[in-house]
Amino acid sequence: MKINLSGFHVLITGASSGLGFEMAKALLQAGAAVGAAARPTKRLEAACEKLSAYGEVFPVPMDVRDEASVRQAAEKVREKFGHLDMLVNNAGVGNNVGAGMNEKGETPQIFDIPTEAFTNIVETNFTGYFLVTKYFVPMMAEAGKGRLVYVSTSDGTMKMKGQIPYGPARAAAEAMAFILAQELPRYGLTVNVICPGGATDTGMCTEEMREFFKKSGRTMLPPSVMNDTILFLASPEAEKVNGEKIVAKEFEAWCREKGFRA
Ligand SMILES: NC(=O)c1ccc[n+]([C@@H]2O[C@H](COP(=O)([O-])OP(=O)(O)OC[C@H]3O[C@@H](n4cnc5c(N)ncnc54)[C@H](OP(=O)(O)O)[C@@H]3O)[C@@H](O)[C@H]2O)c1
Repeated sequence: MKINLSGFHVLITGASSGLGFEMAKALLQAGAAVGAAARPTKRLEAACEKLSAYGEVFPVPMDVRDEASVRQAAEKVREKFGHLDMLVNNAGVGNNVGAGMNEKGETPQIFDIPTEAFTNIVETNFTGYFLVTKYFVPMMAEAGKGRLVYVSTSDGTMKMKGQIPYGPARAAAEAMAFILAQELPRYGLTVNVICPGGATDTGMCTEEMREFFKKSGRTMLPPSVMNDTILFLASPEAEKVNGEKIVAKEFEAWCREKGFRA
């Protein structure tokens, strides 16, 4: 998709890896200025160094589970950008990050799920979206315009066996997006949800998953799968698009159905 986003300011969480990194790259290539957020580690620095080859990017260290960290990040972005045109809530962790989640090499039963792992995933994937929205929306609302994008998962994953708590946490975040899509237009803001449309080869995938896909002759989606969708949502054409869930793998079909040019 060819668009010119010069002067367009974006903050993407989870930009140090996977889908977030690729969306940041695509937005930079289109001319947007990007604040790339992730936890304050060398991984964020390395990602920003790579992304700087494509345009104006700056690192925004932030742990989405930590309210003070999110508030400071929002202040930093306000100082740097003045205004924010798009907020992409994308940071997340999969069930595999939780210590003890797959020690037996199989789907953990409800009584085996360590509470600490459950809480960490919910705090990142649900509370994290809440905190980031809470602290970044005011600067958009003050300007009377802005676009929020919530990265989510496929509807099936939310209720799939073995997906506690990842699936329910993503379902909760998505429900919040649809509530905000009704509440935030009064401030000139839109809220949309996007998801890849299947397992995607990112930092969230384990070697076992890759091996399983290979053995069963299936292919994972590439992490660039979201790029056309995020560029569209940043484009003037999408100014009034609100309350939609777009499955990136089916973006062209969605455009045809809604009467947009893909
Ligand atoms: N991969 C898939 O199959 C798939 C499918 C559907 C939806 N998704 C969604 O896609 C989104 C991106 O995931 P991905 O697949 O691209 O995985 P990924 O490559 O592991 O990227 C996850 C990103 O989230 C960041 N992150 C994790 N915990 C964080 C925290 N506490 N604070 C700030 N940043 C944090 C990571 O940065 P640091 O670790 O450097 O902080 C990283 O940049 C997630 O919301 C996920 O639910 C993925």
